[in-house]
Amino acid sequence: MSSAKRKILVTGSSGQIGSELVPALRERYGTQNVVACDIKPLQEGSGPFELADVTDREALEGIIRKHRIGSIYHLVSILSAAGEMNPNLAWSVNIESLRNVLDLALQHKMEQVFWPSSIAAFGPHTPRIHTHQLTVMDPNTMYGITKVTGELLCNYYFVKYGLDVRCLRYPGIISWKTPPGGGTTDYAVAIFHGALREGRYECFVAADTVIPMMYMPDAIRAAIEFTSAPRSRLHTHLGYNLAAMSFSARELAKEVKRHLPGFVCTYKPDARQKIADSWPKSIIDDRCSRKDWGWKPRFNLCRTVEDMLNHLRVVVPGPR
Ligand SMILES: NC(=O)c1ccc[n+]([C@@H]2O[C@H](COP(=O)([O-])OP(=O)(O)OC[C@H]3O[C@@H](n4cnc5c(N)ncnc54)[C@H](O)[C@@H]3O)[C@@H](O)[C@H]2O)c1
Repeated sequence: MSSAKRKILVTGSSGQIGSELVPALRERYGTQNVVACDIKPLQEGSGPFELADVTDREALEGIIRKHRIGSIYHLVSILSAAGEMNPNLAWSVNIESLRNVLDLALQHKMEQVFWPSSIAAFGPHTPRIHTHQLTVMDPNTMYGITKVTGELLCNYYFVKYGLDVRCLRYPGIISWKTPPGGGTTDYAVAIFHGALREGRYECFVAADTVIPMMYMPDAIRAAIEFTSAPRSRLHTHLGYNLAAMSFSARELAKEVKRHLPGFVCTYKPDARQKIADSWPKSIIDDRCSRKDWGWKPRFNLCRTVEDMLNHLRVVVPGPR
């Protein structure tokens, strides 16, 4: 996104990704040029913030007019596990908010919209190893269904109206600053807190569950590099596959144990196991991202665990 005179709006700014994307965008484009917006009150931080429900089109339009918004990073979502507990809410929040954003972006002649899709857009019949960019997508969670629908909507607004909408299919995101928001990959964050606080963790997926993951600094850099890429370089306005690493819950626990030898991880799969089993296993094929806009991850499992523990040791109390 260019730092033109019109401002950038980040919806869902208080969530796991938003709380790290907003500071990164403010550093790049200037604090006053990035407006944060969430239904949850802001915990801390400086810069413009609007408390709003973005399924309310009038409220969203009011923010767009007030701040002269020229581009939107639309992060609002009900995630996979939370969505299975309340599918109606997942559909209405995820789809209505996206339609509002796309319609208002057109109406206000915006430069660009960024909307994250997810590996949850894949399903049980998707090839689970080296999952290709264009493949079978038959998700069986409401969250996944909203991601496929959202990708199709974004592509529709690009093809029919020429709106510059950009989607990335994020894998599970690991981070330390903010707790994750009710996804199936939350165990890959909770394990660090359990390990530091109590020296143990009961994992809600089985030890051999493999899911593609990414460390937050890579996820933030991906969003910024992708939205800065020239439009002429892009070949799809459905979601771009995006990959970094892929490991089992057991491999993650083993890597944590290398740093904290007394750590014990046990496994008690719950309803989230079924969701995890319907997603790709290995690093998905992100050759299109690498070729079209130069994507290259920097964090593997080893670097991620080391960096997570370095940060969390300072803030999480515990025996160690
Ligand atoms: N975190 C991941 O592992 C992951 C992986 C793949 C894709 N994604 C996608 O990235 C985006 C951001 O994910 P996240 O992990 O930061 O989610 P999150 O749940 O942590 O944050 C979402 C934010 O949206 C806000 N919100 C919910 N309903 C709202 C409404 N009606 N109006 C305004 N705000 C509302 C919530 O308060 C929350 O702060 C989502 O689209 C998600 O699907 C995330």
